[in-house]
Amino acid sequence: MSVTIYIPGDSGSLSLGAEKVAKAVEKEIAARGIDARIVRNGSRGLYWLEPMVEVRTEAGRVAYGPVSAKDVASLFDAGLANGGQHKLSLGDPEKLPFVAKQTRLTFARCGITDPISLEDYEAHGGLAGLRKAVSMAPADIVKQVTESGLRGRGGAGFPTGIKWKTVLDTAADQKYIVCNADEGDSATFADRMIMEGDPFVLIEGMAIAGLATHATKGYVYIRSEYPHAIAVMDKAVKVARRAGVLGKSVLGSSQGFDIEIRSGAGAYVCGEETSLLNSLEGKRGVVRAKPPLPAIQGLFGKPTVINNVISLASVPIVMDKGAQYYKDFGMGRSRGTIPIQIAGNVKHGGLFEVAFGLTLGEIVDEIGGGTATGRPVKAVQVGGPLGAYFPRALFDTPFDYEEFAKRDGLIGHAGITVFDDSADMLKQARFAMEFCAIESCGKCTPCRIGSTRGVETLDKLKQNIEPEKQLALVTDLCNTMKFGSLCALGGFTPYPVMSAIHHFPEDFRPAAVAQAAE
Ligand SMILES: Cc1cc2nc3c(=O)[nH]c(=O)nc-3n(C[C@H](O)[C@H](O)[C@H](O)COP(=O)(O)O)c2cc1C
Ligand code: SF4
Repeated sequence: MSVTIYIPGDSGSLSLGAEKVAKAVEKEIAARGIDARIVRNGSRGLYWLEPMVEVRTEAGRVAYGPVSAKDVASLFDAGLANGGQHKLSLGDPEKLPFVAKQTRLTFARCGITDPISLEDYEAHGGLAGLRKAVSMAPADIVKQVTESGLRGRGGAGFPTGIKWKTVLDTAADQKYIVCNADEGDSATFADRMIMEGDPFVLIEGMAIAGLATHATKGYVYIRSEYPHAIAVMDKAVKVARRAGVLGKSVLGSSQGFDIEIRSGAGAYVCGEETSLLNSLEGKRGVVRAKPPLPAIQGLFGKPTVINNVISLASVPIVMDKGAQYYKDFGMGRSRGTIPIQIAGNVKHGGLFEVAFGLTLGEIVDEIGGGTATGRPVKAVQVGGPLGAYFPRALFDTPFDYEEFAKRDGLIGHAGITVFDDSADMLKQARFAMEFCAIESCGKCTPCRIGSTRGVETLDKLKQNIEPEKQLALVTDLCNTMKFGSLCALGGFTPYPVMSAIHHFPEDFRPAAVAQAAE
């Protein structure tokens, strides 16, 4: 029987040497005359174990990791083709605690299937949601998505079904589905993992959105820093078109839907939905004032659904298993699962999909295993560069949109960055202001000018020049930015700045400032 060996081909694993491992495996197979097939799967998201090589045996899959090219010959000597024991043996990957503790709904196939094999996708439950959707009335699809409680995973947490209903209810000769794959937040890689590891789930989700709203054209706006994701999505769209999933008739239905892949413009603000639409139209990525909402006047002035990758990729399971199935996971108004991305100074960095409700402490200490340096955790930034810093005292906060908001934080795209006790929070606060100054689109004054004044003020604080006055000034500035900015770039920069000041005052006190300045 032919052996199947899985070697991840996603960019995260490639950056850790997966290509060299694949080449070495190919060489060993040829030299030893083994009848084997290599599948370049996506990552399961355990990045400290990548490249993780798996082999399919009669007893199920067996994993090894982290594998480097120099380990390959000894792995074959140990009988890798039959799941033999080796010092890098990890056993059944499904039984690894990091995998076993997850609830994988959106990422059910990621790391398991061949990303660009539609047969493999269908064999693992793919297209079941779209098949149901083609026989349903648009309003019923929208109702099901609304009832599932799915909220936007791009950051704002807006109910997906309500957005779709606005587009469905707006009459127009042309409507669009735009997928936001700009993924600019620090510590985030969920969109990339799905696009590289299970691209058909995104294509299926977009096609369902098209059927639900009478939109016939979709665009995926992928950040230019993701060339690998762009290539995989391009291939997958072609496969889907050939198979009749996309094109003039979606799965034989009377409605057509097609997708175009576009490369982003390389600015953080191009992830903001209206700025993204401008960029897609070939204009400069400047934020548009709302109203009109994109759902009413979006791309090229037409009604447009704009959703994050994970929001759209979560729709197929909602359609397949039903609204109630999805809704049964989670807590409060945060329903379903969330792919938490754990990064920074952490032992077990990776993607962990789980129902809402786990506390921040459980995520950092138990799932993430604490810091990589072994030093105490000082702070965790949740929600990307605009997210608040949480001290250990707030580690009992459950992962839930409202619970985070109650503590002046946000979940954002669910990326968390861990810092140990060597972190300087004044430096982090300055970084937030500097980031805003660099990335500001320049349309409104509080953000364009305020962020630069913020950097100057924090620099004076560091130099111990009238520190109390600078602190009052920064606080005042943050209030102006929070309430006077047109979009969340300027509006949310105060979160990291003020949380750092509030939770770590010792880093902003004159004595500490004086010491740091020495
Ligand atoms: C400065 C800024 C950057 C953003 N970047 C992203 C991004 O990279 N990806 C994303 O999905 N949403 C991003 N958003 C949120 C989008 O504006 C929008 O809320 C989202 O695409 C809506 O999709 P959802 O409802 O599925 O989350 C950003 C917002 C702001 C203000
Ligand atoms: S807050 Fe900043 S990024 Fe947003 S519109 Fe104003 S200037 Fe542009």
